[in-house]
Amino acid sequence: MADHLLLIGMMGAGKTTVGQLLAERLGRQYRDSDRQVQEATGKTVPQIFAEEGEAAFRAEEAKALARAVEEDTPSVISVAGGAVLDPDNGRRVQGAGTVVWLRARPDTLARRVGRGWGRPLLDAGPAETLARLDEVRRPLYQALADITVDVDSMTPSEVVEAILALLPPSGEGPGQ
Ligand code: S3P
Repeated sequence: MADHLLLIGMMGAGKTTVGQLLAERLGRQYRDSDRQVQEATGKTVPQIFAEEGEAAFRAEEAKALARAVEEDTPSVISVAGGAVLDPDNGRRVQGAGTVVWLRARPDTLARRVGRGWGRPLLDAGPAETLARLDEVRRPLYQALADITVDVDSMTPSEVVEAILALLPPSGEGPGQ
């Protein structure tokens, strides 16, 4: 298993955009657990939720994450927002490299996800759901994070620069 860089945080925090930019800057491959679920199943996330339910999605998500962290090539990995709810996934994330939490206020998340298209958990009302999920997940993200970046007023490029500035020199443990 390689020493990866893992991005965690809520839906709308910017994990995908920042992850792609960061992978480019570091010359690393990029992995995204949602995209890997789609590739493995041939279905979109909303399709899996609708046809098989959330539990089936979570099982695929765990498999995708396990595959991503086990790769031998150091990667930037975006970890889907809800994956940390499963303690096994949490351990996998923590043991796989440097963990960066893209922390955002619920109102920022709500603004960014808009109507929540493509994210089935938000079908019932994005702003309220995000606030509720954020309350539950915040301590989990906090416990896993080696580095935390408050992204509310930052562009994706600024977030990338902030992460790069906080990364430990390679070969050392996580910085602060
Ligand atoms: C979810 C986050 C989504 C996706 C699914 C459920 C969650 O991924 O896995 O809609 O429970 O937070 P992103 O965090 O990449 O949006």
